[in-house]
Amino acid sequence: MAPLTTMSRALARSAVRLPMATTTATTTTAIRAVSSTPALRDAAASSTFESPFRGESRTSKVPDFSKYMAKGSSSSNALFSYFMVGALGAISAAGAKSTIQEFLVNMSASADVLAMAKVEVDLNAIPEGKNVIIKWRGKPVFIRHRTAAEIEEANSVNVASLRDPQSDEERVKKPEWLVMLGVCTHLGCVPIGEAGDFGGWFCPCHGSHYDISGRIRKGPAPLNLEIPQYDFPEEGKLVVG
Ligand code: FES
Repeated sequence: MAPLTTMSRALARSAVRLPMATTTATTTTAIRAVSSTPALRDAAASSTFESPFRGESRTSKVPDFSKYMAKGSSSSNALFSYFMVGALGAISAAGAKSTIQEFLVNMSASADVLAMAKVEVDLNAIPEGKNVIIKWRGKPVFIRHRTAAEIEEANSVNVASLRDPQSDEERVKKPEWLVMLGVCTHLGCVPIGEAGDFGGWFCPCHGSHYDISGRIRKGPAPLNLEIPQYDFPEEGKLVVG
């Protein structure tokens, strides 16, 4: 055991001596030029690096980066940076605006679709007591030129007894002209005109009966036939839509 203890002491002593020996090397670091002044640029170009390893006598030269440095002052560099950031921001904003505008223009209705949004009808061509069906926005529209007897019949109904209570007055702008969508309010079939138990329209799909004002009177449909937007811009003319 005695020789082992002596040996370990000797090893510990030599280990303490080693780092002290290595600290004798001095280190000189190159100064990195952070300014564009000529004095510092020259200093950066001539900076040297001394090796920290013992026995290494050669010195290494730091590469010269001066030709990559900006020639102007730091304030002019900052000005250039702000200008570039501002200009690129403005170009990006203009590009984004143009892209969104193009997208919205593509999504909006085209001129031919807008033209289909309104339909003009010559009412002089529809005799009294007759129905006409036109197509508007892909749906059938019923136009009925009602007789005086039909108008009277439509007004004689007890509104309170109806499934979808609506007076005839609420459904027409001119009593002789009844304009409504030809779509059954049950499941969307097209009812047949001048048919059914109430002298109006009859939907054969499931047996809904509408009266001469287009109000549901019998069958599964829950609501009256819908009234679209329409107007009479002049005598004898109807515009649907
Ligand atoms: S769709 Fe008209 S009654 Fe069912």
